Amino acid sequence: MTPSGVKATLSFSDGSPSMDLPIYKGSIGPDVIDIRKLYGQTGKFTYDPGFLSTASCQSTITYIDGDKGELLYRGYPIEQLATQCDFLDTCYLLLYGELPNAQQQQDFHKLVSEHTMVHEQMQFFLRGFRRDAHPMAVMTGLVGALSAFYHDSTDINDPRHREIAAIRLIAKMPTLVAMAYKYGEGQPYVYPRNKLSYAGNFMRMMFATPCEDYEPNEVLVRAMDRIFILHADHEQNASTSTVRLCGSSGTNPFAAIAAGVACLWGPAHGGANEAALNMLEDIQRNGGVEKIGEFIKQVKDKNSSVKLMGFGHRVYKNYDPRAKLMRETCHEVLGALGLENDPLFKLAMSLEKIALEDEYFVARKLYPNVDFYSGIVQRAIGIPVSLFTAIFALARTVGWIAQLNEMIGDPEYKIGRPRQLFVGSQRRDVPPLDKR
Ligand code: SDX
Repeated sequence: MTPSGVKATLSFSDGSPSMDLPIYKGSIGPDVIDIRKLYGQTGKFTYDPGFLSTASCQSTITYIDGDKGELLYRGYPIEQLATQCDFLDTCYLLLYGELPNAQQQQDFHKLVSEHTMVHEQMQFFLRGFRRDAHPMAVMTGLVGALSAFYHDSTDINDPRHREIAAIRLIAKMPTLVAMAYKYGEGQPYVYPRNKLSYAGNFMRMMFATPCEDYEPNEVLVRAMDRIFILHADHEQNASTSTVRLCGSSGTNPFAAIAAGVACLWGPAHGGANEAALNMLEDIQRNGGVEKIGEFIKQVKDKNSSVKLMGFGHRVYKNYDPRAKLMRETCHEVLGALGLENDPLFKLAMSLEKIALEDEYFVARKLYPNVDFYSGIVQRAIGIPVSLFTAIFALARTVGWIAQLNEMIGDPEYKIGRPRQLFVGSQRRDVPPLDKR
């Protein structure tokens, strides 16, 4: 970061001494006011629940311009990556900062494909779950359990160990997600087939059975690969911030990524695609397009706590560029499957049109986000709704590990330890039992 040459002067109306705070510039985006010395010099904290105005770190990985609806991975626009690259190219870019050349691409694909199997013991963890356990409960357990196999071979402060852990996590997530799915279906696990592409391997582990040959449908494989690319990283979102904070204690990367999986599960975050699809199916069940007006009325009613799932975003106050790409993928997949008249897709398009014209949503800058359409694509591919967030976690693992490795590699990093505004009881003595 570069000193901006401008400073912020903090002064107090009670005559307390004022303080100059340096301002730094990034390469793009908002400047930051460095408050690291604030408490030491003023005895005061800043207060920013939800971190709406707080930069937790400096990063070179992903940049979002919420007003322009722009998303850049290492400077490359998501629209170009989603149409000109595949997910493993995107993983290479996020991890190493540049797109791979032909040799690097070949080496990286081979490296990842050589780590797709998980230890045979992993399958016994699954047996501890009920068959109807939510896949995210299973994934939180399985990813954390990876620590048991690699904890003693991962020195988080060794860059080479960090790289091996990154490859292991990227390579094994599809295998674990497919195992979670097969366990729920009561079907045998399908081992990875390394001659297939990353997304093709995942589709085969998901949908193949020992009874017949399985040839992945290339349109669906491409759609799956695009879903992975669009979900790969997204600045300091809730789950990435969780991974950074968890990793800042020096814990092993598998445990830190498991924390990210747990955070992503929430419906306000990665669980929104599952919630958005359940919302569309509820509207469909209760009358479809004719009932949208009634539903929108509920959303506007502050007492209803009903939200338009798949809409709104903390950063995008314009269209989420990923939603546009996901909408295109919807058309491609439904067209390839002869589902152009899929009622749920038509309902989603109607709901989107009505919401985009409604003053309530326009005034609050509530536009469709990536989750609004990703559920429809995944449902068309044959992915059960309950697995949507696990697939989001599969894709986001590369972002989490790239951000974690960037933090650990930053000489300035230290364990995260926010403070608070205490509004509880003043000091008081414990009364005897008969006086309470
Ligand atoms: C992801 O951070 C990331 O980058 C996340 C993510 C990633 O890739 O990592 O992009 C993935 O999590 C996408 C978001 C998925 N979540 C949803 O689709 C769930 C529905 N969306 C909302 O929960 C909400 O929009 C959030 C949580 C996404 C953002 O919330 P904010 O920015 O804190 O906005 P807010 O809660 O302050 O809302 C501002 C106003 C409020 O109304 P008023 O009090 O001003 O009258 O907008 C309303 C909210 O009630 N509002 C909504 C709404 N989202 C916000 N009203 C109806 N439906 C919604 N979806």
